[in-house]
Amino acid sequence: MCGIVGYIGGRSAWPIIVKGLQRLEYRGYDSAGVAVINDGGLLVRKCKGKVADLVQMVKGQDLSGSVGIGHTRWATHGVPNDVNAHPHTSMNGKFVVVHNGIIENYREIKARLVEKGYSFKSQTDTEVLANLIESFYLNEKLTAEQAVKAALRRVIGAYGLGIICTDEPGILIAARKGSPIAIGVAQGEYFLASDATPIVEYTDQLIYLDDEQVAVLSSDGYTISNLNDVHVDPVITHVDFDADNIDKGGFDHYMLKEIHEQPQSIADTMRGRVQSETHTINLGGIADAMPRLASARRIIVVACGTSFHAGLVGEYLFEQFARIPVEVEYASEFRYRDPIINDDDVIIAISQSGETADTLAAIRMAHEKGALVLGVCNVVGSSIARETDAGIYTHAGPEIGVASTKAFTSQVVVLAMMAFALGRRRGNIDEATYASLIDGLVAIPSLIAQVLDSEPQIREVSRAYQLAQNAIYLGRGYLYPVALEGALKLKEISYVHAEGYPAAEMKHGPIALIDNCMPVFVLATHDKFYDKIVNNIQEVKARRGQVVAIVTKGDCEISKMADYVIEIPECDDALLPLVAVVPLQLISYYVAVMRGCNVDQPRNLAKSVTVE
Ligand code: M6R
Repeated sequence: MCGIVGYIGGRSAWPIIVKGLQRLEYRGYDSAGVAVINDGGLLVRKCKGKVADLVQMVKGQDLSGSVGIGHTRWATHGVPNDVNAHPHTSMNGKFVVVHNGIIENYREIKARLVEKGYSFKSQTDTEVLANLIESFYLNEKLTAEQAVKAALRRVIGAYGLGIICTDEPGILIAARKGSPIAIGVAQGEYFLASDATPIVEYTDQLIYLDDEQVAVLSSDGYTISNLNDVHVDPVITHVDFDADNIDKGGFDHYMLKEIHEQPQSIADTMRGRVQSETHTINLGGIADAMPRLASARRIIVVACGTSFHAGLVGEYLFEQFARIPVEVEYASEFRYRDPIINDDDVIIAISQSGETADTLAAIRMAHEKGALVLGVCNVVGSSIARETDAGIYTHAGPEIGVASTKAFTSQVVVLAMMAFALGRRRGNIDEATYASLIDGLVAIPSLIAQVLDSEPQIREVSRAYQLAQNAIYLGRGYLYPVALEGALKLKEISYVHAEGYPAAEMKHGPIALIDNCMPVFVLATHDKFYDKIVNNIQEVKARRGQVVAIVTKGDCEISKMADYVIEIPECDDALLPLVAVVPLQLISYYVAVMRGCNVDQPRNLAKSVTVE
């Protein structure tokens, strides 16, 4: 979590840093700060709150200077306040540090520094690191770069760092272990950031640092080496990224924009992979891995949050079409329970950001045990994308809203493409069925567009439940993971307690919660569970619960029992999650707006969870 930005070159650093921090606020937003060096020396400004509060605080101040670093924070050590905000300056003012990650052994380092006479202003691990670097610099008469490396050789934990040194104002130092660092390379100027979004409007040439690499940037050039001073030849990646994509595009919130982007983002996920004329699916990213995947004894999906829910849909898809047993695991549980992994298992890691710490740790463990590890990531060049053996990018475009929406549907599309292609290859799907599934996939963007046309009605349904304190989401089969996802969306942005259940589970406990104040969102489309789900609706109504049913267009039966119905177009059961999730995304969005919640930056959350 946390976003960091840095700049060195011929321009004024402050406006570049502040704009970059605003783009990274999805990574954390409880405090913000900046440090620049100019002719007058070092200027550090930081405060509790958002980047906008920082901008307000420094209004009218001269923050000129062509080298600087900035930070937007998601607190790990120390409450969010002005003092704990980054940047952190070492005791003698030599080093200023912004940090994304956790220094796990900071307590013992701090104790040793206290013995040497160091005192601390904040409760953060980052201030400890700043002082550790300074103690090497002063005591061992090292250069700034050497002092940084000496300190990083002592720390245990994760870091993405931007560091400036007041004695060496012509350089900016970046370092990475565990937390991502991208460096933008341009003529006579360099940018650093936690991801590409603050950089892409200035340059499309990016270097992603690997673990334990340190970059020293100056307006004359840059060097990259590892912690043992071995030079590293950088790989410069060309990023094809449209900076317009990271604006709200006329919508009130990123989340609403991203919900509306789904017809396009899904089309982008399929582009070049699904050929509707020839009814073929071509997954170049996993072509070499396909034989091993097709003969896998078991697929294990590891993911967190919404990506986990996409993985659950994947379980239904792979088992139905590829006939390969699937287990779906929370990455955080998987990595710590010494799971049995065989070398004929295939792990699929799903992650929008590609940086989720638990998912990253899970794939490292699976690698050690000899499994083939595939990635389904959205962020190109992200850690998970780079550490997997092969993978398929979702190509959904930048997702800025903390609540994941278009990433989910694109992940499900990738999993559907994989399951259909595998099923065909393994001889479980005949040609006609395969063609019809591909036609179904290709039609999804237009079906979602139809659901989006119902937005005014969905907004009114949301109005009816804006004051609810609790909600239950029910679904069966392919729509059970959608029920979980609907509940997650509501709780994370509206702060309404919500639970998702397989509909038949309701009578094993949750039914006790139902009274006339309980909204129950039921996914009740014309699939093989229709009659059963009608019974579930009757059970809720018999207990005076409020039912909002997501039904297939033209359904006449459920509208007689439900309080509200929202119609979605018909499609194959296996593709229903893609369509049925959209009204639930919109309901959570409108309930949050009506409750006055900060939709794009919900409390306590961050987009990219780079701490375990
Ligand atoms: O970037 P990832 O897909 O790995 O992120 C996983 C979860 O942190 C993420 O899906 C989270 O649950 C979202 N806030 C859900 O909307």
